[in-house]
Amino acid sequence: MQTSSGKKHDTFAEDVLKGLSAQPKFLSSKYFYDDEGSRLFQQIMDLPEYYLTRSEFEIFSTKTNEIFEAFTKNSKEFDLIELGAGDGTKTAVLIEYFLKQNVDFTYSPIDISQEAVGVLTTKFKAEFPDLKMKAKTGDYFRILETLKSESARPKILMFLGSNIGNFSAEDSIAFFKNLRGVMNEGDLLFVGFDLQKDPRVILAAYDDAQGVTAEFNLNLLRRINRELGANFDLEKFSHYAIYRPNECAARSFLISRADQNVFVEILNRTFHFNAWEPIFMEISQKYSLEMIEDLAENCGFEVSENFFDSQRFFVDSLWKVF
Ligand code: AVJ
Repeated sequence: MQTSSGKKHDTFAEDVLKGLSAQPKFLSSKYFYDDEGSRLFQQIMDLPEYYLTRSEFEIFSTKTNEIFEAFTKNSKEFDLIELGAGDGTKTAVLIEYFLKQNVDFTYSPIDISQEAVGVLTTKFKAEFPDLKMKAKTGDYFRILETLKSESARPKILMFLGSNIGNFSAEDSIAFFKNLRGVMNEGDLLFVGFDLQKDPRVILAAYDDAQGVTAEFNLNLLRRINRELGANFDLEKFSHYAIYRPNECAARSFLISRADQNVFVEILNRTFHFNAWEPIFMEISQKYSLEMIEDLAENCGFEVSENFFDSQRFFVDSLWKVF
């Protein structure tokens, strides 16, 4: 989990200072995933309301051959690189199939969490003894640079699960442009996007009946308490989710239920919360096919093929360098 430099702590503290000093207040959803947060996200993926993971899993399970054909159209040798690999459940479906075909490929899961990459490596080594694996931990772009010099084969980069949805419009453009910068002609990018649909279906996914999503958000306050020595009273904050169809975005907030102060020891700062003041926690962007095409074009790519689930809730979009 933790880097040896301790830099991660400083950044976390700095970001909390910035977010809680801002008007309106915000915290970054990238900090949701400590051990408890990762466990809660696993629980979210099993919720009846959280359709995203099941939809994407359906695409991988039912369109395996089509995906394989698209990946191998130009080369029977490639390096498959997954950014933010998580538990790799979806990717396992592809890998199992690919290993039975006449292709030569390596698989590199990349994640900032050493623990996640370790668990995935152990699992895949046991499940697929013939798989050539090169797992990496750390910063995506630095690692992609090293992969560039390690292999001359075409790269297929994957960024699945609508992880892109947590980026602002600006950040997602910067992210894809950066990826484009480390890619060559003939390389492919495979991205999972959650699509626009009945707003009620979307909202329910971020406001589940069991309150797991609420816990997932509140857990960040718990993390600030533990790691930065704060005294957030979790009972005094409640989770609130909205979906704005004109912006195609779900957003979640923690609302201060009382006029209160919170002290953060590491920052030596007290933050005041008015009654009913919100902290903006997370954006989960939803897309139309047009938005996806525009995004690809803006960043130096072209949509080559889209893969949908039967309900068209989700798309895995294959982009080629343009
Ligand atoms: C991991 C970014 C895809 O936004 O749907 C789930 C995170 N937040 N429930 C998403 C999340 C609340 C999730 N992603």
